Amino acid sequence: MGHWKRAILAGAAMLLAVGAAEAADVKIGFIVKQPEEPWFQDEWKFAQAAAKEKGFTLIEIGAEDGEKVQSAIDNLGAQGAQGFIICTPDVKLGPGIVAKAAANDLKLMTVDDRLVDNSGQPLEDVPHMGISATKIGEAVGQAIVDEMKVRGWEMSEVGAIKVSYDQLPTAVDRVTGATSVLEKAGFPAANIFNAPQAKTDTEAALNAATTVINAHPEIKHWIAVGLNDEAVLGAVRATEGVGIPASNVIGVGIGGAESAINEFKKPAETGFFGTVIISPKRHGYETAANMYDWIADGKEPEKLILTSGQLAKRSDYEAVRKDLGIN
Ligand code: GLA
Repeated sequence: MGHWKRAILAGAAMLLAVGAAEAADVKIGFIVKQPEEPWFQDEWKFAQAAAKEKGFTLIEIGAEDGEKVQSAIDNLGAQGAQGFIICTPDVKLGPGIVAKAAANDLKLMTVDDRLVDNSGQPLEDVPHMGISATKIGEAVGQAIVDEMKVRGWEMSEVGAIKVSYDQLPTAVDRVTGATSVLEKAGFPAANIFNAPQAKTDTEAALNAATTVINAHPEIKHWIAVGLNDEAVLGAVRATEGVGIPASNVIGVGIGGAESAINEFKKPAETGFFGTVIISPKRHGYETAANMYDWIADGKEPEKLILTSGQLAKRSDYEAVRKDLGIN
């Protein structure tokens, strides 16, 4: 081998070595508001897959309130991380999160819940990946309209439990998407009952829905919509709690993670009729990979990516998951 050839090979080897060392030095935080929720565990799982593939370190952090978010960001800075992705417990922390990230010299992307400023407007400069909330809500509404027809229900005898969480814009868009389709199909607006949940978990939804059901003994059949599967499952549990049979209940959630799957796997059908499956793989893997490309190659992520969903029912969820490449 000639002298120059050897030199080129050595140079190439060095470049490779430098590249590998850089990847190993990259640390990315992935902060989520509800670490116990299957959706967020799935996001972490797929973000870890990106870390493994690209060779960076992913630091998983659960932060249920503003204080925890602040200390999580400081911790990431102290650990020498270069960026983080966050699903915040409160979108109004927006300006504070941006400032904390800058103070720690950390790149920032958001997932699921988009940060807002003091007047409630989205922080458009922060790259964000969320679901196309209105459209997915509309798919929920349509699924319920279709099933009410199949069951031959008289809409005037049906009550809708709208499990709401109005401080979160994506939650408002989702439930409004659903109720707008219901109303367009002739569902009486007066039969849509608001059930505001104090937190976005099943227990809070169960409490909110129980109050609504108890206040309306005149209602014969119930339908339920909400921000996610947990919200709708809470409403379904509430109907069970007061002894309403599953055949009188149609709940359609959003998510399609373990909470929904476990429900579909129950031997007897429940009031949880379906879910619009969304993609934790896109939200976890892509945000982490995009953050890595931003840090390692200076490639700026897109400012806004909205992902889609697909309806799945007890009868076809396995096929739909297969179709979507989820296993
Ligand atoms: C919000 C909800 C989660 C999940 C994500 C999807 O964060 O709280 O349950 O639906 O949106 O983007």
